[in-house]
Amino acid sequence: MSDFNGKTALISGGAEGIGFSIASAMGDQGMNIVIADIDETQLRVAEEKLTAKNVPVLALKMDVTKLEDWQAVQEKAVTQFGNIHMLVNNAGVATAPGPLEATNYDDWQWVLDVNLMGVVRGTHIIGSHMKQHGEGGWMVNVASMAGMAGVPTAGAYTATKVAVVGMSESWQPEMAKHNVHVAVLCPAFVKTRIHLSGRNRTAEDQNSFDDTKVNTKDLPGGSLVENGIDPELVGMRVVEALQAQEFYIFTHPSHRESLQMRGAAIDQAFERAAQSPILADIEDDPNIVFG
Ligand SMILES: NC(=O)c1ccc[n+]([C@@H]2O[C@H](COP(=O)([O-])OP(=O)(O)OC[C@H]3O[C@@H](n4cnc5c(N)ncnc54)[C@H](O)[C@@H]3O)[C@@H](O)[C@H]2O)c1
Repeated sequence: MSDFNGKTALISGGAEGIGFSIASAMGDQGMNIVIADIDETQLRVAEEKLTAKNVPVLALKMDVTKLEDWQAVQEKAVTQFGNIHMLVNNAGVATAPGPLEATNYDDWQWVLDVNLMGVVRGTHIIGSHMKQHGEGGWMVNVASMAGMAGVPTAGAYTATKVAVVGMSESWQPEMAKHNVHVAVLCPAFVKTRIHLSGRNRTAEDQNSFDDTKVNTKDLPGGSLVENGIDPELVGMRVVEALQAQEFYIFTHPSHRESLQMRGAAIDQAFERAAQSPILADIEDDPNIVFG
């Protein structure tokens, strides 16, 4: 019997795309599934699909930018299924890529509030709950390959995904003390509707991007997403990786080389610093990892 069987997973943005694929794969492992999403129509579709394969499911409307929504979801989930053992911080959005000036401050605010602060809110509420109940579990934060290396013309999205990788590294040792395994998922392109994120933008976020009027393949990044891997593979990969206690979860092995090149460039930069006469006499403790 799998470690997941009979336990409860909460997936933000779980109504479709990568979030739904993880919900479905975890449901196949015998978990109770709570999908929480801003899109009520897709929530009902997802609920039906999971119910059809006998997965116990609770589908709740939630905006990850609202702390009170997270609190309400936690209460309803616990009432229905008892303690929550897995948090998947998945909900995310992207603006169309473009030059610096094309991403205005409202766009920055929206992407930061969903992708970064949404993860912070989820972790504060559900991560604290998992620490308190003491039964252990898993936290999967959905970053991106954009969290591993900056993507040209996508500064706001990159900023949030680098932050999600960093926060995961920061939280991992703390949560491990409570038997909660933290992992960070870093996919490259997956065939979802991420390039149509404008559909999830609430009126108060001042939608400046009307995706109903465009041919999705013509959107910058649109064809890359539409030619991405099948989201179903991502859910199955997450199960496999959590069973193996992986921390960084990759789904596109072909990206290994570009990351190695980044690592090599950083190593060369350290070498130049090591050779610099300006720095020759400084005393530095390498065990202090920040400063
Ligand atoms: N598709 C890719 O190529 C790709 C690659 C790397 C990482 N990711 C990441 O995967 C995650 C899931 O994206 P996806 O590709 O499945 O996109 P998607 O647009 O298909 O799904 C995103 C889900 O999040 C929900 N959502 C959006 N804003 C929300 C909010 N404020 N509150 C609650 N729910 C909200 C949407 O309704 C939707 O169900 C994101 O964090 C994204 O950045 C995607």
